[in-house]
Amino acid sequence: MLIVTGASGHLGHAIVERLLDRIPSSEIGVSVRDAAKAANLAARGVRVRQADFDDPHSLQHAFEGASQVLLVSSNARATGGDTLAQHRSAIDTARAVGAQRIVYTSHMAVSESSAFPPMRDHFSTERLLAESGVAWTALRNGFYAASGIAMMGDAFDTGVLVAPADGPVSWTAHADLAEAAAMILHNPGTYDGPTPPLTGAESLDFASLAALTSEVRDTPVRREIITDDVLRARIAARGAPERTADTVLGFFIASRNREFAAVDPTLEQLLGRRPIAMRELLAERVSQHATARA
Ligand SMILES: NC(=O)c1ccc[n+]([C@@H]2O[C@H](COP(=O)([O-])OP(=O)(O)OC[C@H]3O[C@@H](n4cnc5c(N)ncnc54)[C@H](OP(=O)(O)O)[C@@H]3O)[C@@H](O)[C@H]2O)c1
Repeated sequence: MLIVTGASGHLGHAIVERLLDRIPSSEIGVSVRDAAKAANLAARGVRVRQADFDDPHSLQHAFEGASQVLLVSSNARATGGDTLAQHRSAIDTARAVGAQRIVYTSHMAVSESSAFPPMRDHFSTERLLAESGVAWTALRNGFYAASGIAMMGDAFDTGVLVAPADGPVSWTAHADLAEAAAMILHNPGTYDGPTPPLTGAESLDFASLAALTSEVRDTPVRREIITDDVLRARIAARGAPERTADTVLGFFIASRNREFAAVDPTLEQLLGRRPIAMRELLAERVSQHATARA
């Protein structure tokens, strides 16, 4: 049985949908914190078991009978949790239940020294996988296009995209990453160890995103640059913890260092078509915005 964690989330759920296109639902199990969020999958014959990365006993139950485990990375660091301990627990459990391969959603910019803290967690997790004794694949996913659109903040209302100086990012759609993950899970061993970067077909900075948004909505969006210190002060003024500012600013520093700039053809080759373009995703966002205001 193929077990998918994080199936109540955006990426994990999309991966299960793309697996259902390929294999019978009886061969898929999901490990979710809240079974109610996977009721639609249970209704279609997917095995739904409740588990939390912080509770190894629950993982043991959810991973029972796994041939492969797709480990969707945790974002626990964002709320002060221990991402690495959670990943270690999931990897140990996958080995304990006899899984033959662990497929992990890593990142294109995995690095021990990245300015963007999650990249260091991905680096350490890949090391845990390499030491696990279980065959593994790290899907080195491109930066989510959805994250880029979220970082544009209220630019869709104000017409001004305010952020520190940034660098180019090869923004990548969840839907494409989910399709690629399902293909790789369906053909175990296609990639052993880290994949090449699975990225969109172009890298764009925020000035380019502002220009593209201006085109798709036919109203200008202006790019305004603020200093890192101004952004840090604004985040603090909202009452957010220091680690939030470190993570957000880490993105800008890392993007200026071109950590997310690489464009690689592997995703396009796997999908057999062009990856979804940022322009298309921005057009969707603009249209949702218009509907919400109507
Ligand atoms: N490539 C990138 O650019 C990029 C950008 C942002 C994030 N990420 C990483 O990609 C991951 C998946 O992205 P996404 O968009 O699918 O995020 P998402 O929609 O927030 O989904 C996260 C999933 O993780 C589950 N989860 C959280 N804490 C857990 C715990 N303690 N035990 C078990 N499951 C837990 C959530 O369960 P609930 O539904 O119960 O909350 C949810 O199913 C993120 O978690 C993050 O690590 C990557």
